[in-house]
Amino acid sequence: MSQLRAHFPWMSSGREVYLNAASVGPHPTPAVEMGREWLDLRAAPHHISIPHLVNAAQHARERFATMIGADSTEIALMPNTTYGLNLAARGLPLRPGTILTFDGEFPSCVYPFMALGSRGIALERVPPADDGLPDEAELIRRIGRGDVVAVVISWVQYASGYVADLARIGEACRAADVFFIVDGIQACGVRPIDVHALGIDIFASGAQKWMLSPWGTGFVYVRQGLHEVVQAPDVGWACMTASADYAWLTQYDFTFLPDARRFEVVTLAYHDFAVAVQAVDCMLEAGGPAAIAEHIAVLGDRIVEWVSGRDDMRLWTPADRERRAGVFAIVPDDLSGTMARLKAAGVVCVPREGAVRLAPHAYNTMDDIEQALSAMAG
Ligand SMILES: Cc1ncc(COP(=O)(O)O)c(C=O)c1O
Repeated sequence: MSQLRAHFPWMSSGREVYLNAASVGPHPTPAVEMGREWLDLRAAPHHISIPHLVNAAQHARERFATMIGADSTEIALMPNTTYGLNLAARGLPLRPGTILTFDGEFPSCVYPFMALGSRGIALERVPPADDGLPDEAELIRRIGRGDVVAVVISWVQYASGYVADLARIGEACRAADVFFIVDGIQACGVRPIDVHALGIDIFASGAQKWMLSPWGTGFVYVRQGLHEVVQAPDVGWACMTASADYAWLTQYDFTFLPDARRFEVVTLAYHDFAVAVQAVDCMLEAGGPAAIAEHIAVLGDRIVEWVSGRDDMRLWTPADRERRAGVFAIVPDDLSGTMARLKAAGVVCVPREGAVRLAPHAYNTMDDIEQALSAMAG
């Protein structure tokens, strides 16, 4: 991982410890250079060819597909997670009934589905278990109830860091013929996943956090068999086969592109996706999601061990490696005092739902973690 760390020269100064990938992923130097190159081109856009643009977008689809074990034909580029979740909410053929989610989810898993009330679809939030973590057993029990039409959950909870058992939930969804929608932003890129094996129908993720990419970049995976089933709520020009030839756009042939690009409605932020490709390539060079997950797990072992020895704070995140990824939530007796000490020590992190959220990535070292822990101790 030292190779990846070298792409963040400012981290070597020792002045700041960046533990905030769950909010904003920093760009590695090669991605920054790619961005500069594209801005220079953009200043004189006649130097940019159409194939150059088309390739930038296609490479981004391919990289995102690699991160989740999908085929690039199943990826539509999106500006963020929430557009992908809205595609699921408004595009899937949901009959009147109930959509299940966990209470405490990030609002992107909530509002787009609450908005379906006029179609006779209600969003039901499954209350947390006694430990304040998602109650998966109860979710699974409710899936088979008969009125449930879809489940929408985060792969990793943004506040507690809890990693859902997607295999178990996916199996329950398939058994009950219920759509399975996953918000993947809090783990995509730093934990391996095989969306096909898990039976996920729609998986949405922004790339601006763990994939170290620009704001405004992300994707939605739509399972192969659903491309013609999902009715795109937004229709534009870019999703049509007849728009391939920019010189002749007025045939108005209402035929969608044959793959998930049918959900891409408008002109893309090509330069930002080119930066995203470079950022993802840096992560792949560092070994990709499996190697990064292992690195973060080792850093996490230290956080878990350290917090468990204290009586002035508790770990909200599960201690079990299988149930944690890069988000570590620590609930101190004195949240504001702890946050102030972390800030004074140059540790960049945020409070979420009453907990300090430490979010280490592949570029972090054990020294970073020790620095953060000693600042928390005061
Ligand atoms: C679980 C989860 N979903 C979605 C988002 C952000 O959504 P978007 O990429 O649409 O801005 C966040 C950001 O914190 C998040 O933690």
